[in-house]
Amino acid sequence: MDEGYVLVIGSAGIDVKGRADEEELHWEASNLGRVRNSVGGVARNIAENLARLEVETVLLTAVGSDVEGARVLEHCRANRIDCSYARVVEGARTGTYMALLKPSGELLVAIGDFEVMRSVDEAYLLEHEDLLAEAEMVVIDATLSQEALAALFRLAERHHVRVCADPTTPMLAPRLCPYIPQLHLVVPNAAETAALCGLAYTAHDRESATNAARQLVALGAYIAVVTMGDKGLAYADGSGGGFIRAVHTNVVDSTGAGDALTGAVIFGLLNEVPLDEAMRLGVTAASLTLQTTETVVPNLSQELLYDRLAV
Ligand SMILES: Nc1ncnc2c1ncn2[C@@H]1O[C@H](COP(=O)(O)OP(=O)(O)OP(=O)(O)O)[C@@H](O)[C@H]1O
Ligand SMILES: [Mg+2]
Repeated sequence: MDEGYVLVIGSAGIDVKGRADEEELHWEASNLGRVRNSVGGVARNIAENLARLEVETVLLTAVGSDVEGARVLEHCRANRIDCSYARVVEGARTGTYMALLKPSGELLVAIGDFEVMRSVDEAYLLEHEDLLAEAEMVVIDATLSQEALAALFRLAERHHVRVCADPTTPMLAPRLCPYIPQLHLVVPNAAETAALCGLAYTAHDRESATNAARQLVALGAYIAVVTMGDKGLAYADGSGGGFIRAVHTNVVDSTGAGDALTGAVIFGLLNEVPLDEAMRLGVTAASLTLQTTETVVPNLSQELLYDRLAV
């Protein structure tokens, strides 16, 4: 990659994750388990993965004027994400993602409160048009409002900048539907695939995931990657595609695996590695993330990623 930077736009906040001790939960009661918190937000997680892989990264986001917001920005700075343009919104709550994990570390259910992302609006994006115009690539999550997305894609088209998108959750993914033809890369998980553009099925095996990835390319995405947790992923672009098995992993905490995958795939694309190698970098980063309670692997590096590269 040249000396350019990646502009990441989207959510940053705190993850609170509770992992129950027992498979059988007691509903409407307090259960025993382990509760951990870490700095998260899909866009911010992708930014941190990129920064750890030595990609210069600038983050546009909004946090509240509270201790959580200060913690998020401090953590970003400590990890060499440039967040000097982030908005600190007076009186607003910093975004929070609260997840309940099964004893296996897999997600049971989560609630995300990223209302503060309303402050990432058209005016804020226009204020930073120069930053977008000069970026090597833009990466977004689907916490951006409809208004912000419309402004963003207008600017990206004006300045011929590639946009990669993480659909974030099945509830937010449909916001991206009008922009599929403008996406350089889109990385939905199985549930998000169904939500994206009303595909009639959820990707559940090699064949359905491959079809979904091809369909997203037929709709205009340049590269589509459909992830299916431990069942692996399918990818497609205009010249073909393939399927990559997940790395068999002892899961501690599944939070952030998809974001690590997106970050590492983007790292591969920036370095113009072959598409299947970019995908293997992605599943390797995801596998490392599954083995830590942190949302981003604290010691992630290019060396570690290539050392563990999935075959
Ligand atoms: N249990 C698992 N075992 C092995 N690999 C896994 C497992 N879960 C996830 N992965 C890896 O992580 C990748 C992305 O996971 P997934 O499809 O769950 O994305 P996601 O739902 O977006 O995750 P997240 O909520 O962490 O963002 C998969 O393609 C796979 O490589
Ligand atoms: Mg995800």
